[in-house]
Amino acid sequence: MNQTPTPSSSPLSGGEQSSSLPDKGGMGRVAFRLSIIVAMAKNRTIGVNNTLPWRCPEDLKHFKALTMGHHMIMGRKTFDSIGKPLPGRTTVVVTRNVDLMIEGCVMAYSLNEAIAACGTDDNIFVVGGAELYRQAIGLVDTLYITEIQQAVEGDAHFPKLDKAEWLETAREVRSQETPQPLEYHFVTYRRK
Ligand SMILES: NC(=O)c1ccc[n+]([C@@H]2O[C@H](COP(=O)([O-])OP(=O)(O)OC[C@H]3O[C@@H](n4cnc5c(N)ncnc54)[C@H](OP(=O)(O)O)[C@@H]3O)[C@@H](O)[C@H]2O)c1
Repeated sequence: MNQTPTPSSSPLSGGEQSSSLPDKGGMGRVAFRLSIIVAMAKNRTIGVNNTLPWRCPEDLKHFKALTMGHHMIMGRKTFDSIGKPLPGRTTVVVTRNVDLMIEGCVMAYSLNEAIAACGTDDNIFVVGGAELYRQAIGLVDTLYITEIQQAVEGDAHFPKLDKAEWLETAREVRSQETPQPLEYHFVTYRRK
């Protein structure tokens, strides 16, 4: 599909913003929330050598709790880094390789096709990596960002955010000593 979802207000999401897709094949796509979930360092690093640059078990739990039961859209390289579909969620892998089939995943050949593949799910997550975030940032209405409170070297980065477009609605300050000392915040932003 070639059309792009645009954020819009919806009574279905309790007055919060949501996106809506045009009717697909007469199925009548209902309003839905499209969110990005990411863990990002102060210098916007999200990855190195196709893996995460830090170890933060609580962030993985946070990711699991938010995404459980929903569709997760990810780039093929992020899928490679995870290596398997994550239980309890539907993994939609975006690739330009039409010959690629991954058992247990839904394949999509563009971001819009991936969103359409999420069917009637009203809470869809774009989970990376950098290439997918760059394409999704203009479409999503919610950002769940784990803000790592230090700069970290890496080769994959989150796109620059225009903070004027976003309203911070939640911030939880956390820290860990093991497996590595780390201060981080769980932050939610809604598009204004
Ligand atoms: N910190 C975090 O929260 C977080 C989350 C996720 C990932 N990451 C990190 O991010 C890094 C990976 O990011 P990345 O930017 O290299 O790769 P990516 O975004 O995961 O995947 C890129 C691939 O997705 C496919 N793709 C992208 N746009 C497409 C489109 N419009 N149509 C069809 N296919 C498309 C292509 O696959 P094909 O090459 O198969 O065509 C492309 O090579 C890793 O280091 C990973 O650990 C971090």
